[in-house]
Amino acid sequence: MPPFTPSPLSRRQWLKSSGLVAGGALASGALAPAPLLAADASITSVVDGQTTAAGFAAHERMIAALRRAEGPIRLASNENPYGMAPSARQAIENGWKQHAWYSAPAVPNLRKIYAQSVGVPEDHIMITAGSGELLSIAVLAFGLNGEIVSAWPTYEGLPRYAESMGLRVHKVPLDAGFAHDLEAMDRRLVQAVDLVFVCNPNNPTGTLTDTARLTQFVSNAARRAMVLVDEAYHDFVTDPGYASCIDLVKKGENVIISRTASKIHGLAGLRTGFVIARPDIIARLQPASPSFPGVFGALGAAASIQDTAYQAMCKQRNVEGREIMRAALAKLGRTMTDTQTNFVFFNAGLPVEQIQKALLAKGFQIGRAFPPYTTWARISIGTPDEMRAVAAALPEVLAGTPRSMGSGD
Ligand SMILES: Cc1ncc(COP(=O)(O)O)c(C=O)c1O
Repeated sequence: MPPFTPSPLSRRQWLKSSGLVAGGALASGALAPAPLLAADASITSVVDGQTTAAGFAAHERMIAALRRAEGPIRLASNENPYGMAPSARQAIENGWKQHAWYSAPAVPNLRKIYAQSVGVPEDHIMITAGSGELLSIAVLAFGLNGEIVSAWPTYEGLPRYAESMGLRVHKVPLDAGFAHDLEAMDRRLVQAVDLVFVCNPNNPTGTLTDTARLTQFVSNAARRAMVLVDEAYHDFVTDPGYASCIDLVKKGENVIISRTASKIHGLAGLRTGFVIARPDIIARLQPASPSFPGVFGALGAAASIQDTAYQAMCKQRNVEGREIMRAALAKLGRTMTDTQTNFVFFNAGLPVEQIQKALLAKGFQIGRAFPPYTTWARISIGTPDEMRAVAAALPEVLAGTPRSMGSGD
């Protein structure tokens, strides 16, 4: 594989690398197709709805060139660098006519396919416009008359929305190992608390909270309040000790599981999220929803869920990228969390804004600061080549900054 350079390719260079200038099409001015459509040879590399290894390799080459041509490499928002599966794209192209309909079959079809994939009846699933929609409507449906408990820092969608509605949020600091401090959260489960938010693995730290202890906490809290467990990064976890809290839904407890098509399925721009909960809980969430999900997201997600080969390839590449960063940061003597997600979180030893600026100058866009960890940087995992390039840039960016003193510094 050629060495990675984040500098933008010119349009002509890119077209050349994708073979589109052959035959003088560019010179004659006859080059009509948009780059995304023209370059995607991988679209034909799907067998029975599963992306083939050769198809993924072609897809990866196309994506890598596109990402370089787009400008700074996007490593800020925990997106899937590979985007949607070729099979998902094919499904969108095949079902495109549904875009004009209000009650398109794509959405109920996705409900059915998702229910089968997670092993619950169809009436336990609601499709939302990204999982972000659930994080708001859960507050409207279950939180408006009381208080909310959440870890901190965590994914801010639910707590920030609640605060914007004037609600009190008990923000409980993470423990020294960056897990949810379950004893402290338990102490905050006062009478007024109606809604509890848990994010596992947690964003921005990437960490898991011990499965047995978390399950016990959630089950206990669910006797007094509604508990929402955000599992946006579920599909990237490799720790064999991890288990989803979905079994608590299957047991009929007051638990809502949140998942998304934005991460492993690479559909962040198509806004598709999955709610897993008892039907009576869904019946309370549904009227709080301001709209309904889009057809293209539903078509793409349904194909992607069935394309287990594509998911496995994305997960494997993510592990490679994570390991490249883990090794580079260890070599630089930096403390990082035990991430189980598609991003790393480490102590850079200087304000994150400075790291952001220095890495942007080298062609990489990274995450913002997450107080109180103002010297900790969050970098999303891109392709392995991109991670090798970031790792190569880090010694200069971090030069002269204090190395880590040990865990929890
Ligand atoms: C933990 C977590 N939950 C939810 C979301 C929202 O994702 P979406 O609305 O795209 O499903 C994100 C986005 O990064 C996230 O990190």
